[in-house]
Amino acid sequence: MSSTSEGVRTATTDASPVPDRFFRDMVTSMRNGVIAVTREGHVAVLNAIACQVLNVPVRAQTLGSHYTEVLQSSPEIVRIFGTAFESDYLPNRAEMRLQSGPVIGYTLSLIRDEEGRTTGAALFFKDLTRVEQIEERERLRDRLAALGEMAAAIAHEVKNPLAGIEVMAGLLKRRLGQQTDAQAMLNDIINEAKMANAIVLEVLEFVRPIRLQMEQVPLARVLQDALYMADNQVEKGQTKVSLQIPEDLPSIEDDPHQLRQLFTNLLTNAYEALGGRGAVSVLVHPPADDRGAIDQPPGTRSIAVDVTDNGPGVPEDSRDRIFSPFFTTKPRGSGLGLAIVRKIVDAHDGRITLCVPPGGGTRFRVALPVTGLPDRTTLPASKDYGAPGGPRQRSGSPKE
Ligand SMILES: Nc1ncnc2c1ncn2[C@@H]1O[C@H](COP(=O)(O)OP(=O)(O)OP(=O)(O)O)[C@@H](O)[C@H]1O
Ligand SMILES: [Mg+2]
Repeated sequence: MSSTSEGVRTATTDASPVPDRFFRDMVTSMRNGVIAVTREGHVAVLNAIACQVLNVPVRAQTLGSHYTEVLQSSPEIVRIFGTAFESDYLPNRAEMRLQSGPVIGYTLSLIRDEEGRTTGAALFFKDLTRVEQIEERERLRDRLAALGEMAAAIAHEVKNPLAGIEVMAGLLKRRLGQQTDAQAMLNDIINEAKMANAIVLEVLEFVRPIRLQMEQVPLARVLQDALYMADNQVEKGQTKVSLQIPEDLPSIEDDPHQLRQLFTNLLTNAYEALGGRGAVSVLVHPPADDRGAIDQPPGTRSIAVDVTDNGPGVPEDSRDRIFSPFFTTKPRGSGLGLAIVRKIVDAHDGRITLCVPPGGGTRFRVALPVTGLPDRTTLPASKDYGAPGGPRQRSGSPKE
């Protein structure tokens, strides 16, 4: 065992009771992401969590390659290492949202040898996407509570006069007989009153807490139903749609009605973004350990569903706001679609992340915890989206 000038003991000598292998295993097994590069810029350490969060394929030749090559899908991390040896400022406990979706909390350290010379730099980071979502969920809950009170009061005040307008306009229509101009105006009045009423009902529906009706759900069926429903809501024109589902997918215990709504909203947004062209893909990943789920028991497994389109993408300055109620960039949008999606995902203890795929476009990744046993009734991947099944028996007790 040797000592550095600061008296820190290292385990690099033959006399060490702790073999070097131990330190390698320690870094590999860490639940934080770790990346270390040498002074020359070669990747010396890249552990499994780092690969997972940054979406770097695990390859034998990664170690020793230049970091700009290995980390090209994370330009922000490349920038951090680019200035590590020149800058006086080493970020400690900084946070950053990566272009690829995750939010990370990180610390950058320089690696020094026994003489104090800088031989490399190491980045330690944690995926904070879940923490961000929990905070956002709490903020949303507070906002919704305030909004709920207001909406209930407005609905109370506005619903009756609206119904009055509709009824009176109907009566007047009958009295006026054949006067075409007046009839047309009254039709407009009735239609506008109906629309205003629909908005009030939509807001009330949104602020009402979700009561889940849990069932063992074959996800394939839910997704096919959602594709069918989205087709009926938006003109998808020439947009190509694909659905890929692994075989032997376990069923999940969820509310199928809510899940259908969730995926329908994502799909209608994708169709609207594409305006009748382009392609949408729905890709289900096999269950994997949900390492980012800090508020779930260790070992929780999740099924991730990616809904991807190759449309114009979400502009950077809107990405933080798209899940907020009433945020919309569409002339006739209510801005509730993604807020409802977020609410349903939260009610299922799931996660939703907005990612920017490498070739542009938009990807929403929904991760849902797996609770069920393997389900052999899973439907095979198919492009034939039949009509949703008829009303299903609901079972299980409602969950708040
Ligand atoms: N796939 C997508 N591609 C590009 N932008 C998107 C996509 N999905 C959502 N957005 C952006 O997020 C905003 C909010 O979406 P959200 O579904 O909440 O409301 P909306 O679609 O505008 O209205 P609503 O769904 O209530 O009819 C959209 O107006 C759009 O700017
Ligand atoms: Mg929408």
